[in-house]
Amino acid sequence: MSALHGFPQPAEWKGKALPRIISRLFDVPNGHTLAVAKQHGAYDWFGSTLFDKSQFELIQTVIDSGLRGRGGAGFPTGMKWSFVPRNSGKPVYLVINADEGEPGTFKDRLCMARDPHLLIEGCIIAGWALGVRTCYIYVRGEMLPQIQSLNHAIKEAYDAGYLGRNLGGTGYSLDIFVHRGAGAYICGEETALINSLEGFKGQPRLKPPFPAVSGAFAAPTVVNNVETIMAVPYILKHGPKGYRAWGSDKSPGSKLFSVSGDVHKQGVYEVPLGMSFMDFFELAGGLKGSLLGCIPGGSSSPVLTAEETATATMDYESLASLKSMLGSGAVTPFNTDRDPVLMLQSIARFYAHESCGQCTPCREGTGYVDRVLDAVVDGHGRTGDSDLLHALASQYEPMTTICAFGPGAAWPVQSFVTKFKPYFDAYIAKNPNAAVPRQLTATAPGAFM
Ligand SMILES: Cc1cc2nc3c(=O)[nH]c(=O)nc-3n(C[C@H](O)[C@H](O)[C@H](O)COP(=O)(O)O)c2cc1C
Repeated sequence: MSALHGFPQPAEWKGKALPRIISRLFDVPNGHTLAVAKQHGAYDWFGSTLFDKSQFELIQTVIDSGLRGRGGAGFPTGMKWSFVPRNSGKPVYLVINADEGEPGTFKDRLCMARDPHLLIEGCIIAGWALGVRTCYIYVRGEMLPQIQSLNHAIKEAYDAGYLGRNLGGTGYSLDIFVHRGAGAYICGEETALINSLEGFKGQPRLKPPFPAVSGAFAAPTVVNNVETIMAVPYILKHGPKGYRAWGSDKSPGSKLFSVSGDVHKQGVYEVPLGMSFMDFFELAGGLKGSLLGCIPGGSSSPVLTAEETATATMDYESLASLKSMLGSGAVTPFNTDRDPVLMLQSIARFYAHESCGQCTPCREGTGYVDRVLDAVVDGHGRTGDSDLLHALASQYEPMTTICAFGPGAAWPVQSFVTKFKPYFDAYIAKNPNAAVPRQLTATAPGAFM
């Protein structure tokens, strides 16, 4: 991971300071150890700064900060916490979503490897705010260095009295367990994650009930992303105002962005929300070649054209106005040497492979789209295939499925075939039989030839 660009990043960029809310220790040697983390202020709130605050005060502080979930959906964190019933008579669980399966996203793994104590700090603060006794960190199974780093840090925290029984002499107790997933993209979806955590097949559950009311083991459960929870210690220490000093009014704070694709310095950067994409590309070493488009928030987010990218800023509102989304903060700019058709083929193949199969529109639709795209690329495209792809994706886009996997799989298809249509048409034009109508059943002989 040392070859990863981003850290150390400059203290300021384009005349504006760059935040180090999440990434404070990313470039500090041995920053993952308790001794070094404490030298940089870790756990300095442990005591009256936290324990003198009521649950209500803490939740209100997080609401006032404007923090929104960094896992993809951008749901306001404090509001989610406020949904947890207080007197259900059941335990409340905190589950940290460290599955990080969205293609292009590689920030949470850096967080857990470089600063696991900041995640533990966030869990303790959220735990106190929500009355949690048991917290699970659900980590993608193949992230072995991260699992080791977390387990080491958790042991250090227990030994130092930050975890375990009677924290700070308050009578409050908290345990944290690292749970290894088996590496399925769908297990990042919060209810599939809960099923997997309970030992069942990782398939999403119908909502409602939402996890905040009935989640893990049928008890109230808050599921939050790694980065979301790592912002909480800063909010406790600096207050909502301190957090709001970064970012824009409607999208306050900072965000980690993992950038891959056609920039010179691919890596993870922490920037204030609201930075322009073009400034960000310069921070990441500059664009390679001439920009053709950009996937702004992970493979599910609708693609932007170069013109849209040039006007967009990295915040929830700007991307929503362009009918795209900030998502997980995975930015993939691509230049005119890239082929959007091959890009979409690769994305569509991923979704067809990862569909859990529970809902027919998603299971059948993603596979159908994948096969039509293969046919187009292999020279068997038919006139109207762009429209067909769009129509097929529209079958699993408008929540005809239990979870948001369907829409997330549909958006790249709909946006690529619309915004880069001439590229699809160029493939189709190579087929001398392009005018022969495609059979409309997936199993019809020659349907994809
Ligand atoms: C198919 C799918 C995959 C997801 N993968 C992740 C993931 O890997 N990590 C994550 O934090 N959220 C993921 N999410 C979003 C979670 O369901 C959930 O919204 C999030 O963990 C809530 O945390 P936050 O509010 O802190 O963002 C995924 C959602 C879907 C539909």
